[in-house]
Amino acid sequence: MSAHSPANLLAAPSVVDGFTRMPLAAFWAAHRPPASLYLPGPSGEPPKLLCKRGYELRDEHLQELSSRGMRALYVANSELAEVSAALLDALDAIAENARVEPHERVAIVQLAEAPAFDVTLRLIHCGKAVAAAQRIGQRLADLLIGESVDAPALFASLQHDDRASIRATNGAVYGLVLAKRLGLVDADNAAEFAVGALLRDLGERLIPPQIVNKPTRLTPADRTLLESHPTRGYAELRQSSDLTQAQLMIVYQHHEHVDGGGYPVAIIEQEIHPWAQAIAVADAFEGLTGRRAWRDALDVPTALAQLIAGADRQFNREMVACWQQALMTSPR
Ligand SMILES: [Fe+2]
Repeated sequence: MSAHSPANLLAAPSVVDGFTRMPLAAFWAAHRPPASLYLPGPSGEPPKLLCKRGYELRDEHLQELSSRGMRALYVANSELAEVSAALLDALDAIAENARVEPHERVAIVQLAEAPAFDVTLRLIHCGKAVAAAQRIGQRLADLLIGESVDAPALFASLQHDDRASIRATNGAVYGLVLAKRLGLVDADNAAEFAVGALLRDLGERLIPPQIVNKPTRLTPADRTLLESHPTRGYAELRQSSDLTQAQLMIVYQHHEHVDGGGYPVAIIEQEIHPWAQAIAVADAFEGLTGRRAWRDALDVPTALAQLIAGADRQFNREMVACWQQALMTSPR
């Protein structure tokens, strides 16, 4: 069965409590990770110990695991920060390693950067978050614009939990793939687009987490506060960074709807920056396919069906069709 077949799309990777799934390819360039490694457990069971911390995972071990169809190993979240730091040091080597597929490189950048990016996304002053976004956005653009990337494989390799860093990077990655297909970005401005996408929800850090992650229905007051995040992020970034107008429009307009039913201003399609319209699709897909405090992740066909249902109301129809096409057809 092809990796691009609709049936394959159903296999959305699940989030395993207490563990993080890592592409096997991460270990081609970092053979001795500072963590114990685990194999996926049988359906519904926790991962099983493969090797203890400090064990050297040689190429022949990796090849043997790969020949058994293994594409990912697990690390306990308690050891994740150290693994991410080691991956960060190895990113240049991983980017040059021909055995690592383009979609795996993107997933490894996400894993490597997530802990530090999450720290910056909790700071009151936004300077370090902007600097992190500039660095991550450039890496993602370099990986996704110059290479042919298999969108379903990319989806299957990324993390899908509700950390702010993961939500930010997933939306930026999906947005880059979509914007490239739509001809909205090229090699010259893809990093600019990615940085705006990574910072789109910066304003959420100023809203109490118990409202952002509330597992029950939001009150009208909660919703008003939550829906202030584009304005808060825009106002802050406009004052304290040198982001471009297009980047600021991603932050300000990514919850506007093409029929004028969105927020913060309720403008219509012709008034919404095309980059913000593309990120609206990518952001919604990320939200639907990510695990949240109030529901499990939806599978890809269900998420796509919701996007299609929102075409011409919430989303630009052509952009939804393009994203659907990216997940159903061969890489570009
Ligand atoms: Fe948002």
